[in-house]
Amino acid sequence: MKDPASQKIQPKTPKQILTRSLFLPGFLSICAVGLWLFAEAFLLGPSSLTLVRRDLRIPNLPEEWNGLKIVLMSDFHASNNKGDQELIRRAVQLANRQNADLILLLGDFLNGRKESHAMPMETFFPMLRPLKAGYGVYAVFGNHDRWIGSRKMKRHLEEAGIRVLENKAVSFERRGKRLHLAGLAESLPETHLRFVRRQPEEPLIVMMHYPDLYLRIVTETTLLAAGHTHGGQVKLPLLGRPGIPSRHGQRFAYGLIEETPGKKMIVTSGLGTSMMRVRFDCPPEVVLLTLVKE
Ligand SMILES: [Fe+2]
Repeated sequence: MKDPASQKIQPKTPKQILTRSLFLPGFLSICAVGLWLFAEAFLLGPSSLTLVRRDLRIPNLPEEWNGLKIVLMSDFHASNNKGDQELIRRAVQLANRQNADLILLLGDFLNGRKESHAMPMETFFPMLRPLKAGYGVYAVFGNHDRWIGSRKMKRHLEEAGIRVLENKAVSFERRGKRLHLAGLAESLPETHLRFVRRQPEEPLIVMMHYPDLYLRIVTETTLLAAGHTHGGQVKLPLLGRPGIPSRHGQRFAYGLIEETPGKKMIVTSGLGTSMMRVRFDCPPEVVLLTLVKE
């Protein structure tokens, strides 16, 4: 048996020293990045709010409608989560500060599939009442609204001074020049827009929930505005926006889409979340569009 006192303590090799001295900072860095990603995606992301401004160049836009300001808000997905009321109030204030000519609400007002899972309508819809725009505030319904009860919601929207356009259109006039706003119903949308009574040269803005309708609308339009995708809620390096509820994948996921020259669509990532309360590099947004005569 060896005498313990005679056992030699082997000096550490430079590699061992380096490995040991790097392990702790490396481990702590990974923990810090993980913590930051978690906080960003699950805490800060869903409750942040951004104003996205876009100037849209429109050929043949009548001078009278040059500079028209349109605010888009979509996919509120109001739930019983404590943060939702605060986010919606901030979004309404932000929208009103833009002094818009039109405010368009693009559906999915409440979250979930049942009324009991969502923020009570009596709480949610009065929060939209302060919304003000020169030519008014208009709404279409989304899939969640249909599941929860769009008929009841329509009453609440009207009480809040918001007009629902389901395969209906309204016209506005400036110095004798008309501009039309049409809203498509969530189910069986009328994609020929036969219900719009207009001259071919008069501008037409179409609001709808589903961006996939881009391919089905055959009428010439000035601008299409849609929500539904939430921008995927999560945008990742290299992968982009993997979680898009569309049969066309990421094709109509977010932003300005103009696959056919002159046929413009804006898709907003909206305000709320569904499935999972997560947003990463895809913050809740209010969109301000300005039409610019080209
Ligand atoms: Fe939605």
